[in-house]
Amino acid sequence: MAVVILYGSEAGTAEQVAEHMVDVLSDQDVSLYDMMEYDPGDMETSDFHIVVCSTYGDGELPTGAEPFFEALEDDEPDLSGVQFALFGLGDSVYDTFNRGGEIMAGKLTSLGAEQVGEHARHDSSGDVKPKAQAEEWVRTIAAEFLS
Ligand SMILES: Cc1cc2nc3c(=O)[nH]c(=O)nc-3n(C[C@H](O)[C@H](O)[C@H](O)COP(=O)(O)O)c2cc1C
Repeated sequence: MAVVILYGSEAGTAEQVAEHMVDVLSDQDVSLYDMMEYDPGDMETSDFHIVVCSTYGDGELPTGAEPFFEALEDDEPDLSGVQFALFGLGDSVYDTFNRGGEIMAGKLTSLGAEQVGEHARHDSSGDVKPKAQAEEWVRTIAAEFLS
């Protein structure tokens, strides 16, 4: 199964995390896209999607995820049979901790996609670096869904 990694970022952390996942999954058929350049209508049931999304403003999506989200809202593609796992980024100093990834997961599932695996929530205020958490998480996801 091919893996499609989509990231939505504001300041680049989600992008770095997504790039690191590509390295970790080097034994898989992986492609990487900025959500700014990806049409959600291209999500295929034959691919496994990994969505990496941070949080900005007051619990909002990062700028890089907005066009993708708007296309989901406007076009309402039928995502039945599409599987995705979500790695969110945020900071627990905010009441709206990791809301961006939750908004994105909620929209995808409302259109019929199936979220699988643990919904990861990286915390910038915690001790664990985003790439380290992402590496452990994506290895678990790969063992569960890509082997
Ligand atoms: C101006 C600003 C607003 C933020 N708002 C939130 C928020 O509402 N909730 C949250 O969990 N994290 C929030 N964060 C934290 C970011 O989501 C976190 O630092 C993340 O790792 C950034 O990823 P990025 O560089 O890919 O955008 C905010 C950060 C900044 C700088």
